[in-house]
Amino acid sequence: MTKKYGILAYPAKHSLSPVVQNAAFKAIGFDAEFGIFEIPENELAGFMEQVKHEPISGLSVSAPYKEVVTQYLNEITQDAREIGAVNTIVNRGGNLYGYNVDYIGINKALEEVVGGLSDKKVVVLGAGGAAKACVYDLLKEGALVSVYNRSAEKALELAEHFKELFEAVVETGGLDDMTDVRGDILVQTTSIWMTDPDAKLSDLLPEGILKNFSCVMDIVYKPLETPLIKAAGELGIKIITGDKMFLYQAVEQFKLWTGRDAPVEVMRQALEDALI
Ligand code: ATR
Repeated sequence: MTKKYGILAYPAKHSLSPVVQNAAFKAIGFDAEFGIFEIPENELAGFMEQVKHEPISGLSVSAPYKEVVTQYLNEITQDAREIGAVNTIVNRGGNLYGYNVDYIGINKALEEVVGGLSDKKVVVLGAGGAAKACVYDLLKEGALVSVYNRSAEKALELAEHFKELFEAVVETGGLDDMTDVRGDILVQTTSIWMTDPDAKLSDLLPEGILKNFSCVMDIVYKPLETPLIKAAGELGIKIITGDKMFLYQAVEQFKLWTGRDAPVEVMRQALEDALI
């Protein structure tokens, strides 16, 4: 019987997970289809119950459900628990297992450009589920991290959470506090370009701050050239676009769902074709 998988998010129609995962299933002859579950918040509990019984074999979880979905799961891996967010669910006989492979995607995307992260000074924008995975990876690798978010309070909560886990001090602030921020790498994890397609770079960052970094990464892949990536490119700063993290986390998800090696080049090509 054809197995069912899908992306759980709201909105979800913009996601390229179906394109990439269906191409991978086909390439290895795995009898499965990957769909879209655009579920409003008031239907989430009912949907998660349905997942167990219908059954749906696995889910990719995206905004705004990475944190709230944990309450519906039977087990969560230690790293997902420490991050406080799940981006992948595997259904094993009606029991739902939560994983977080976002941090692996972020790690590979960063390390292939900057090498090791130890002692690098990294500034993270955002304090949601994706930011947590990012900060987790950076602290694990020994980077020096600061976090700035629209809501400074949420950035502080994130820092408190990781302070206990890693005994690391994470500097925090609101976006307006960034006037003299500098570092090796700037990582943009907010959903600003998706929630507000007309947003400008100045809505996120104070004027002139980009030149204080040697590498800029944006985890948003739609659009691929975000206002941040465009501005960094024009300044000659090393850039990492959101397709890289997306591809590497999709590879890890595929391995969890199928138990097989992922056809990485097929997935990379499917993503590239969809982003043209
Ligand atoms: P994800 O799982 O993708 O991280 P999320 O948990 O919903 O999604 O988090 C969204 C992040 O984007 C938050 O840091 C949010 O800031 P707030 O905590 O202040 O809400 C940030 N964000 C969303 N829209 C934004 C905007 N227009 N400007 C700045 N930050 C924005």
